[in-house]
Amino acid sequence: MADLTLRMGSGGGEPVGGSFWEAVGGRPTFEKLVRAFYDGIRTDEVLLPMYPEQPDLEGAIQRLTGFLEQYWGGPGAYSDERGHPRLRMRHMPFAVTPDARDRWLRHMRAAVDTLDLSPLHEAMLWDYLERAAHAMVNSAG
Ligand code: HEM
Repeated sequence: MADLTLRMGSGGGEPVGGSFWEAVGGRPTFEKLVRAFYDGIRTDEVLLPMYPEQPDLEGAIQRLTGFLEQYWGGPGAYSDERGHPRLRMRHMPFAVTPDARDRWLRHMRAAVDTLDLSPLHEAMLWDYLERAAHAMVNSAG
């Protein structure tokens, strides 16, 4: 079989390959995303009370960052510490209503907009986040 190298753009761009995590800038990009997201959570009167034991939200920031990094092909530290994600199960203690989902997505959208991603990477990331948030709903509200 002939070797084929896909490249970004119409000529001579970066080879396509490696992980999404790497392509969008690795750890700093995911940390920026999640910190911006939690800046929004801090202002949200419905979502913030779901994190009562976390005045600084630092534990939650680390867990979501680690999970997203692992999902997108970065280091697997999340599962080393927390085991299999089982995200739906882990959200059962919280009433994830359609309203909570829409709020979560609004803060996440604002956070994605702080990253300067290429349109393709942005679409991939946003598509995943939207589908994941819809799958997390566990209460009619
Ligand atoms: C749809 C609305 C959602 C709400 C209201 C919500 C709320 C919460 C809350 C209150 C926690 C506990 C804080 C903590 O201990 O970390 C949590 C944990 C977490 N959430 Fe969500 N979440 C939502 C959607 C999502 C989505 C779409 C994802 C993934 C793409 C996600 C990923 C996580 C992760 C990785 C954890 C930490 C789980 C652990 O290791 O214990 N959440 N979420």
